[in-house]
Amino acid sequence: MVGWRLSRVAAAGLLVLALVWATALVVPSYAADPFAYYDWDVSYITASPLGVPQKVIAISKQFPGPVMNVTTNWNVVVNVLNSLDEPLLLTWDGIQQRKNSWQDGVLGTNCPIPPGWNWTYQFQVKDQIGSFFYFPSLGLQRAAGGYGGITVNNRAVIAVPFGTPDGDITLFIGDWYIKNHTDLRKALDAGKDLGMPDGVLMNGKGPYRYNTTLVPDGIDYETIDVEPGKTYRFRIHNVGISTSLNFRIQNHNMLLVETEGTYTVQQNYTNLDIHVGQSYSFLVTMDQNASSDYYIVASARFVNESLWTRVTGVAILHYSNSKGKASGPLPDPPNDFYDKTFSMNQARSIRTNVSSGAARPNPQGSFRYGSINVTQVYVLRNMPPVVINGKRRTTLNGISYSPPNTPLRLADQYNLEGVYTLDFPTRPLNRPPRLATSVINGTYKGFMEIIFQNNDTTVQTYHMDGYAFFVVGMDYGEWTENSRGTYNKWDGVSRCTIQVFPGAWTAVLVSLDSVGFWNVRVENLDTWYLGQEVYVRVVNPEDSSDKTELPMPDNVLYCGLLKDKQKAQIPHGSRTSSSPISYVGGMLLTSMMLLASIAIFP
Ligand SMILES: *[C@@H]1O[C@H](CO)[C@@H](O)[C@H](O)[C@H]1NC(C)=O
Ligand SMILES: *[C@@H]1O[C@H](CO)[C@@H](O)[C@H](O)[C@H]1NC(C)=O
Ligand SMILES: *[C@@H]1O[C@H](CO)[C@@H](O)[C@H](O)[C@H]1NC(C)=O
Ligand SMILES: *[C@@H]1O[C@H](CO)[C@@H](O)[C@H](O)[C@H]1NC(C)=O
Ligand SMILES: *[C@@H]1O[C@H](CO)[C@@H](O)[C@H](O)[C@H]1NC(C)=O
Ligand SMILES: *[C@@H]1O[C@H](CO)[C@@H](O)[C@H](O)[C@H]1NC(C)=O
Ligand SMILES: *[C@@H]1O[C@H](CO)[C@@H](O)[C@H](O)[C@H]1NC(C)=O
Ligand SMILES: *[C@@H]1O[C@H](CO)[C@@H](O)[C@H](O)[C@H]1NC(C)=O
Ligand SMILES: *[C@@H]1O[C@H](CO)[C@@H](O)[C@H](O)[C@H]1NC(C)=O
Ligand SMILES: *[C@@H]1O[C@H](CO)[C@@H](O)[C@H](O)[C@H]1NC(C)=O
Ligand SMILES: *[C@@H]1O[C@H](CO)[C@@H](O)[C@H](O)[C@H]1NC(C)=O
Repeated sequence: MVGWRLSRVAAAGLLVLALVWATALVVPSYAADPFAYYDWDVSYITASPLGVPQKVIAISKQFPGPVMNVTTNWNVVVNVLNSLDEPLLLTWDGIQQRKNSWQDGVLGTNCPIPPGWNWTYQFQVKDQIGSFFYFPSLGLQRAAGGYGGITVNNRAVIAVPFGTPDGDITLFIGDWYIKNHTDLRKALDAGKDLGMPDGVLMNGKGPYRYNTTLVPDGIDYETIDVEPGKTYRFRIHNVGISTSLNFRIQNHNMLLVETEGTYTVQQNYTNLDIHVGQSYSFLVTMDQNASSDYYIVASARFVNESLWTRVTGVAILHYSNSKGKASGPLPDPPNDFYDKTFSMNQARSIRTNVSSGAARPNPQGSFRYGSINVTQVYVLRNMPPVVINGKRRTTLNGISYSPPNTPLRLADQYNLEGVYTLDFPTRPLNRPPRLATSVINGTYKGFMEIIFQNNDTTVQTYHMDGYAFFVVGMDYGEWTENSRGTYNKWDGVSRCTIQVFPGAWTAVLVSLDSVGFWNVRVENLDTWYLGQEVYVRVVNPEDSSDKTELPMPDNVLYCGLLKDKQKAQIPHGSRTSSSPISYVGGMLLTSMMLLASIAIFP
């Protein structure tokens, strides 16, 4: 609907034209691969997901935003107009941006798009497949929405390890506050906790009224329409603020097939814990007799259920031959308030199907990560929030990240000294916590082991931009060198977001083969906002040509120490609809390319 997809016939013709366009305009792209164009207006709209009107962030008036449905190696061009009243950056969680941190959309790599301005992202979804999502990366904005799915399909020539499903359903689950993101920010700035959320949304909607005491009348809920006997791929993303959710579909098995770009060993689950920032694909067969509709549930994890009953997301699975509404109690969550091992064992059961490929026919099976020598080890420990200079902050190894006004990547480009230091400690140190812009010095082509040690009392999920890492181990207690003996060196899953249980550690391995500045952060919005993040700088000491890293884009925005280089943009008015514009945009480009081809080959 949004965006402009190439028809097969057009694609063949465009191949030649795109080549010409790329050479003519010197755009860094892989010309033989198709382009997808999107034109997005990011603005507030009013919605009442929990019955109370509030301003939410929409993409071209849609909340949640549209699913970007692309295929391995496509080039994506997204013109983003910021119609909010504050700066904006969109980040593309899980898109690897190989050699191209310029498009990553976080403060360490990009200047924010000022209100009223637009900026065009261009990147390639190179050599990857899977289910991901995008979201606004600044100042808790995701708590107001602004997110949407990214589906990267296999190329037609690459086999998928299961039959083509009869339908593809994207579902965003996440905790939600009636307080807006600016008020939530104020609470954090004032040193407070965000407290219990007001609900869990599913696709931007509140719960089905499964209990008249708990759910007020008049709330719009999500309904998933299905046909009996068919099999659907559900892509579930936890886009919430800080709550781990247990996801389940009443009376239906969920066959796990993919997580964040890896085809997993296919196993049935009756429920799965999905932590903030994580994405999973399940195949669900409509094998029930449709005596009624069925509940789809996402309930808070590791909390006192009797206090949190209102914080439960409920949607409806509706068979076309359903004989009535869903009724009765919700399917039970795991009963393990006192059992810390269930969830971790479930997480450990998620493994790579080493005989299936991903974007290529068999990369995981042939990439023996377990026999590669580690070159750098970082133990990153987070603690409960502490007070630094009178402010409540979170830390990694005692350092609370302080974002500079000049993005790290731009500082390097212009050889600006003093923006950051390359001295991030490899281990937690016994010294007072402090604010700093301290960056990890990653060795290009090195193999890094990162151990996340969570000393806080809630689950923290960590994400690394630009890469997928191999999840090799997790356990309760303190990690020691001996813990390596428990690592899964064979079929650990390669993904970009992993949970770390409270009082536990998770270890990952990552091959630093892509140059740039890459954000390692907690996906929980509250602890991220308070400083629980770091960047890894990866440079090729021998080569600064664009073979190693794509050049700075022509439209780069400047700010901080470089703000004088920035030409002002005349702020736009807000647009109403994006689809026609996006279509016209595509047509315009085609004509431009045609003109270019005529000019070059008269
Ligand atoms: C996404 O794109 C694929 C391949 O182009 C297509 O087969 C599929 O129907 C699309 N999915 C949706 C939900 O539009
Ligand atoms: C802003 O959008 C216009 C088209 O609407 C486009 O021509 C221009 O390149 C965009 N600016 C940037 C900095 O991307
Ligand atoms: C693993 O992938 C292979 C090859 O695609 C497939 O045939 C097989 O069913 C998968 N096995 C499991 C357990 O997921
Ligand atoms: C958030 O709510 C406060 C009132 O509680 C209001 O002053 C502020 O403008 C709101 N911000 C947004 C972005 O809606
Ligand atoms: C609805 O929820 C309330 C509060 O948890 C509970 O006491 C009541 O039994 C529930 N009603 C039904 C019909 O399940
Ligand atoms: C998963 O459960 C379905 C029934 O819902 C069953 O048909 C299928 O064989 C199971 N698959 C595996 C791999 O256990
Ligand atoms: C349909 O399923 C329900 C619940 O599983 C069961 O009580 C009922 O007898 C079934 N009806 C038929 C016609 O199979
Ligand atoms: C949950 O909260 C209720 C109400 O405050 C309390 O009575 C109960 O003991 C708590 N349960 C647990 C397991 O802490
Ligand atoms: C790893 O290190 C060991 C011991 O230093 C060495 O013998 C081995 O060749 C190395 N393996 C690789 C793949 O570099
Ligand atoms: C960063 O690491 C490289 C090796 O990858 C080393 O040559 C360089 O001296 C290090 N820089 C600092 C500031 O430690
Ligand atoms: C945090 O660290 C302290 C000191 O090492 C330890 O006593 C405590 O058990 C840890 N707590 C968690 C939740 O890891």
